[in-house]
Amino acid sequence: MLQDKRIVLGVTGGIAAYKAAELVRELVRRGAAVRVVMTDHACEFVRPLTFETLSGNPVATELFHLTGDHKIDHIALADFAELVVIAPATANIIGKLAAGIADDLLTTVLLAATAPVLICPAMNAKMYGNPVVKENVARLSARGYAILEPACGELACRTEGQGRLPEVPEIAEEIESLLSPKNLRGEHILITAGPTQEPFDPVRYITNHSSGKMGYALAVMARRRGADVTLISGPTELPAPRGVHFVPVQTALAMRDSVLDHLKEATVVIKAAAVADYRPTVCRTTKIKKSEERMTVHLERNPDIIATVGKKKGSRIVVGFAMESDHLLENARAKLREKRMDFIVANDLTAPGAGFRTDTNIIRILDREGGDDTFPLMGKLDAAGIILDRVKKVRDDKRARDGH
Ligand code: PMT
Repeated sequence: MLQDKRIVLGVTGGIAAYKAAELVRELVRRGAAVRVVMTDHACEFVRPLTFETLSGNPVATELFHLTGDHKIDHIALADFAELVVIAPATANIIGKLAAGIADDLLTTVLLAATAPVLICPAMNAKMYGNPVVKENVARLSARGYAILEPACGELACRTEGQGRLPEVPEIAEEIESLLSPKNLRGEHILITAGPTQEPFDPVRYITNHSSGKMGYALAVMARRRGADVTLISGPTELPAPRGVHFVPVQTALAMRDSVLDHLKEATVVIKAAAVADYRPTVCRTTKIKKSEERMTVHLERNPDIIATVGKKKGSRIVVGFAMESDHLLENARAKLREKRMDFIVANDLTAPGAGFRTDTNIIRILDREGGDDTFPLMGKLDAAGIILDRVKKVRDDKRARDGH
């Protein structure tokens, strides 16, 4: 997702400088071109050679240095950057930037850069809590610098508090978000994900193989593109994505109630959850003991959540999924029509790499106008991007029809 994005990473002198090496590795893995700038203090913690090796580019440390083509280093670096990231950012760099001081290479790059800047403070919790530091951070935030708040936990100085550099995937996600086009700003997207669990006693339930990966990928991508996101999720092992309103539920009934509770603010509803169609008629309050050779669990139909949403649709865009093992096209078309969806994303459970649990999917988008597009095998994040592109197109078409 960061393919060919040009990122300047400023590393300043804190113990978390070693984590910046992992960050470079991750950004390069995601396809970014990374140029590292280190302060003198950072070089006390990690040698430039580490960053040079991981980024595949020379590391800049000197202010008074011309590049090979006689360009001035800090201007060349500032021009190169599509995004500048400072990780870790010490109280010192935050203070200098807030005051407009430019007395070394990194501070001059920061003043010359017109690209967005992400600051990731990391320091002792008492330093971070100091009103001067707080004031400087607030000042930078008010000027439009993006701040990734430090995490709470054990610090290098063997104390606990807020001051840890967030983990690399979290920083990388923030970078992805800052570099994504914000073409879904103004939308409030309600997404369901994962399986539901339908219990018949306190220790047993009926469920399915959904991991939540497809729905969570949609939530991550929608948030990156500027939408407000509510993610209503059945039980999964995935962490709640950053920056989304996360609502965990267990059963189809709880998912239905939560969807209806959040429907009012939603402008788009995407139902990627694999909702159990049936639930046990009775859920015992005590564990069912082993006795008879056979036992029967009676089931009753769960409400069809997306069909209920379809009836209250209004001007919302409604997107469903169809998970089929046979007659994919006929079944998906019937669901699209009956449940009043704008389009349906069909995935074939029998195709290798598609459907449950995999990191990839093969999607086919069918719409109300008879459109039918099949996409090749791709990562679920990429598939989510294609689905959201389609949401955007439906919105643009609706606006054009309504004359906005
Ligand atoms: O979670 P992963 O492991 O990443 O797997 C992804 C997935 C295969 C679960 C996902 O891509 C997918 O296909 N989700 C929909 C699965 C499903 O329930 O399909 P369905 O054909 O049974 O249902 C059709 C639509 O109605 C779906 O949008 C479903 O959310 C919705 N539905 C179904 C039953 C019900 N009671 N209420 C509903 O709203």
